[in-house]
Amino acid sequence: MSKVLLVYSTRTGETKKIAELIAEGIRMGGNEADVVNITTIKNEKNLQGYDGYVFGSATYHGEMMQAMKTLLFLAEKAGLEGKVAGSFGAFGWSGEAPGRIYDTMKNIFKMKMVGGPLRLKSSFLGGGTTMAQDYGKEISKKLKE
Ligand SMILES: Cc1cc2nc3c(=O)[nH]c(=O)nc-3n(C[C@H](O)[C@H](O)[C@H](O)COP(=O)(O)O)c2cc1C
Repeated sequence: MSKVLLVYSTRTGETKKIAELIAEGIRMGGNEADVVNITTIKNEKNLQGYDGYVFGSATYHGEMMQAMKTLLFLAEKAGLEGKVAGSFGAFGWSGEAPGRIYDTMKNIFKMKMVGGPLRLKSSFLGGGTTMAQDYGKEISKKLKE
């Protein structure tokens, strides 16, 4: 059984809900998932010991939240190369954050990426719940490759 760390950055809670649904999907796929608020990650050691990493941030003013930018600088020192990875986030209209996180995990950390970032306007409208759970299942599948 593999273990995945999901870290979310949120202002009003929507991105946290998406994280919890992705974690459900990972568990449905037979793996373990820990969901943590970004505020609990203090140094790169807090990121170690997992087989997969899924980072999420809501989009504000066309960007990921500041805490996620700080986390990505920390993660650069955590030795995540080759680990399974994905990204997600709630958004209103432009949703830049998940794509930026995904590109950093792919190009800088050289992680083993799932098909693309998950961007959701809501965790419960328009199939959001299923899409988030399916994203978790995709992470689980990638862990077996
Ligand atoms: C002041 C403000 C600025 C925002 N800027 C953007 C933006 O640039 N692009 C976008 O897609 N959504 C934007 N949003 C919408 C949020 O991303 C959306 O409400 C999201 O669900 C918040 O997620 P959270 O609950 O995880 O914080 C903005 C919302 C607020 C209140």
